[in-house]
Amino acid sequence: MSALFDRITALRAQYGDRLAILGHHYQADEVLRHVDFQGDSLELARRIEGLAAEHVVFCGVYFMAESAAALARPGQKVHIPFSEATCPMADMAPAGRVEDVLAALREDGRLVIPLAYVNSSAEVKALCGLYGGSVCTSSNARVMLEWALQQGDAVLFLPDKNLAHNTANQINLDATERLELDIRQGGQRIDHKKAQYARLLIWPGACAIHHQFKKRHVEDLRRAMPGVRVVVHPECSPRVVRAADGAGSTSYLIRYCADAPSGARIAVGTECNLVNRLAARHKAQGKQIVPLKPLTCSNMAKITEERLAALLENLEAAPPVSLSTDVTEHSRVALERMLRICA
Ligand code: 13P
Ligand code: SF4
Repeated sequence: MSALFDRITALRAQYGDRLAILGHHYQADEVLRHVDFQGDSLELARRIEGLAAEHVVFCGVYFMAESAAALARPGQKVHIPFSEATCPMADMAPAGRVEDVLAALREDGRLVIPLAYVNSSAEVKALCGLYGGSVCTSSNARVMLEWALQQGDAVLFLPDKNLAHNTANQINLDATERLELDIRQGGQRIDHKKAQYARLLIWPGACAIHHQFKKRHVEDLRRAMPGVRVVVHPECSPRVVRAADGAGSTSYLIRYCADAPSGARIAVGTECNLVNRLAARHKAQGKQIVPLKPLTCSNMAKITEERLAALLENLEAAPPVSLSTDVTEHSRVALERMLRICA
């Protein structure tokens, strides 16, 4: 093991129960070997409420650390080793624009419920809390969309259009009941005639990584690897999801590979750190696991062992992730609604 590994191990021992380190499945192995708990977005959010540690270090992207900060108990400090590790999809829905678009949609007199994918800023989650909506992750999007549809006349789903369509497909919501919004000019370009009849109003965001998977990648792999099963993350386009054998959160993809019989051939359409780990983990059972296309999330990769060590060296003095009182209060309402509905 390296000097960095030894340093982090010693610092963790020094802090003992006062420190908890959480990590998302997309993190590199060098980082994940230091975490107390690893999970998908929902599992990580669920963990926060039961944590007694004074310092929570979140190895993932910024919105995840923000959610942890909103759910943290008073006095608990949430840290991220590098605050510039952001999710570009979350940045596609700035809170000011979301508020304007929601106001424009509500002008028609309809009760529009905002439902934010967890890959969004705390300010956007706060708007969801404030306007009767909630949050969802890739593992509970179906339950949460069904819930949101029952709360009003229509749902504004943001920011991931792919997850919106894939979830709508799961519940057989007809294409005529969906509308992808033109969000330019603070909602002034919205086609109100169409918006009045749509039950699912879709923000036009997407993950730049998962959007790169194409149907032809699935078809090429099926030709190259006869018998291959293809599983993908629901941030992929509906065409890719339809061409695959299954879709689900990062934890679903992990379970799928674990449950497959020995000798299985599986192509996984998601971030490569995770796929490579699964390939190495299951090789001994004769499972052949390959990436649908080798893509890494450059933002997740900004969390390195070096940056984790630097944070732990200076933890007491490091500024924790901080949200305004209003944003904490309202985003917490939205997150807790999700956690209660999906308990
Ligand atoms: P999961 O919630 O499935 O872990 O996904 C998070 C994410 O950012 C996928 O790109
Ligand atoms: Fe965001 Fe995509 Fe990276 Fe997930 S993979 S954190 S959605 S940019």
